[in-house]
Parts: sequence; structure tokens; C-alpha cells
Amino acid sequence: MLVLGIETSCDETAAAVVADGRAVRSSVVATQSELHARFGGVVPEIASRAHVELIDDVIAQALLEAGIELTDLDAVAVAHGPGLAGALLVGVSAAKAIALAVDRPYVGVNHHEAHVYAALLEDPELEPPFLTLIASGGHTLLIATDAHGVYRVLGQTVDDAAGEAFDKVARFLGLGYPGGPVIDRLALDGDSGAIPFPRPMLGEGHDFSFSGLKTAVVQWVRAHPDADVADVAASFQAAVVETLVTKLVRAALEHGFGTVVIGGGVAANSALRTRLLDAADDAGLRALLPSRELCTDNAAMVAGAGWWRLRADGPTPLSAGAYPALRLD
Ligand code: KG4
Ligand code: ZN
Repeated sequence: MLVLGIETSCDETAAAVVADGRAVRSSVVATQSELHARFGGVVPEIASRAHVELIDDVIAQALLEAGIELTDLDAVAVAHGPGLAGALLVGVSAAKAIALAVDRPYVGVNHHEAHVYAALLEDPELEPPFLTLIASGGHTLLIATDAHGVYRVLGQTVDDAAGEAFDKVARFLGLGYPGGPVIDRLALDGDSGAIPFPRPMLGEGHDFSFSGLKTAVVQWVRAHPDADVADVAASFQAAVVETLVTKLVRAALEHGFGTVVIGGGVAANSALRTRLLDAADDAGLRALLPSRELCTDNAAMVAGAGWWRLRADGPTPLSAGAYPALRLD
């Protein structure tokens, strides 16, 4: 069964074709980062307009790379929330138009659920239960998948998302946008133990907080204007990574999960990936790290999740809308 997935919730315009929820036939991602770079963050109106301009070509490319035509599809899935309202509407409208035109089921999926299902594209043998950390520009979530489509949000950020902290710190340091990849690279030349930045809420429950850490970096740099930027980047990154890894592993042990998974843009971070593999090994857990392409926003994960959603609930009515504040549980 071939599902076309469409993703336009933030600043990536993406389309993909996935067979039977697990086999990626094509995955096309057009990123808009350059359009938003000079603003230091995603500008919603620019994102919506860029999606409108890109969506047809991106879908056509995904079909071409999969070697199929619209009529070969069995269903059309789209991330219908959460995300930027105007951005979501572009993907939702495109998905509904195709579903109507070729008379196939339309399936709206939760963007977070799609991040969770990226793991099954990486490892088709993976079965629930497992625990996923999603850390992106907009969200930091610990999601327990107890069975297919059955989730519990065990923890989330009380203020900034982890990726947002990377972006804000990079912006303050004049490193550009998006901040995560730049800090990741710069940190390789720095000493991660140089500055003892706080590990926010490390010992408290399953929630996260990154706004105080960002402020701590700003205050430290203002007090030490000659500080080595690579040391600042490495020390900041170490604080985020230790917090994410410690909390993920502890939540897994406390709630009895044997497998931990990461997703979202921050899951592409090299220090996080290395650190998590070590920590999971020490704790006797299996860590599944989907490829960086599957961690950052893409439409293959949407098509994968859409296949499972369709099996569980059937099609989504075409009267459904876009849901900017959609929740998972
Ligand atoms: O999931 P994503 O592609 O888009 C959404 O926000 O939904 O995540 C983007 C976020 C940005 O904040 C970006 O700075 C961060 O992920 N990011 C990284 C890395 N690559 C992207 N953060 C840390 N290290 C990276 N290598
Ligand atoms: Zn995302």
C-alpha cells in the first residue's frame, strides 16, 4: 500500500512516498532556512508563501523519484497539526485536493506522532512499547508509545524548546540560523567542561526548562567578553545534552521501557547521539537513533504514521481542518 506523505507544519516543504508504513520509496525535503536566516527564526507569513510556491514541485519530485503517478497511490497523509496555521493549511489543502482528485482516503496525522513513527522507518522490526524524546525548534517532549497509536506524554518543556535554546544562543553569539548545526560544528573545537552552565531541572521529574540556561549563557558572555566562542558553544551544548540524555534514560528506567528513541531536529546533534549511546549502554537500554534525515522534519515520517492511522481509525473526513495546537494525548 503506497501512501503519499506531505509535511508543511513549519519551514520545511516535504513530500514522500512510503510503502506499507515502513519502506521509504522517496523523500523530498525543500528547506526554507535561507529565507528565514536573516530574521533569526521562522517568520510564519514567509513560511506559508514559500510552501505555496514549493509544494507542487516537491510533490511531483517525490512521485517521480518513487517512479509512480498519483493514480498509483492508495492514500494521502498530511501533518495537520501542531504547527503554524498558515503553513499547515498549505499541506492540508494540497493533500485534500489530491485525495479528492484520485478518490483515495485522506489521513491527517499529528506531527509529533509522525516523529515517533520515523523510528519504524529506521528499524522496521521495532514494536511498541518504546519511549521517544522529541526535541525540535518548537517542542521538547517525552512520549511513551505503549501500543500503536497509544501515547502518553510523560514530560515536556515548561518554557523554551531545546532547539529554540540552540537557535537563541546561536543568534546571541552571532552564529546565524538555524543555530543547532552551527553550534554542533563549533563545539568540536571547544572545551565542553570550560564553563559550568546549569543543568536545568536535572533532578526534578520529567519536564524540561531551557530558558534559564539560555539566560545563563547570555550573562556569562556579557561578563566575559573575551571568552572563546567555541568553549561557550561546547559548554552550552554539553548542558543541553546532559539534561536531555539523563532525563530520557531516567524516564525509561522509571517507567519500564527497554528501548529509547530520539527524534526532532536536535536529535541530529552529534554530541547528543554519542552521549545517548553511552548512557543507554550503561543503563542496559537499547537506543535507536534514526538517521539525521529522519530526525529533522520530513514527509516520510508523515506517510509512515498515516499508514498506521488509516489502519487504526480509517480515513479522516475532508471536513477536518488544520490544528495549530493539536495535542498528542
Ligand atoms: O524538527 P525540526 O527540523 O523542525 C521543527 O522545529 O519542527 O527542528 C529544527 C530545530 C532547530 O531549532 C535547529 O537549530 C535544531 O533543530 N537542530 C539542531 C541540530 N540540527 C538541527 N540542534 C542541535 N544540533 C544539531 N545538529
Ligand atoms: Zn518536527
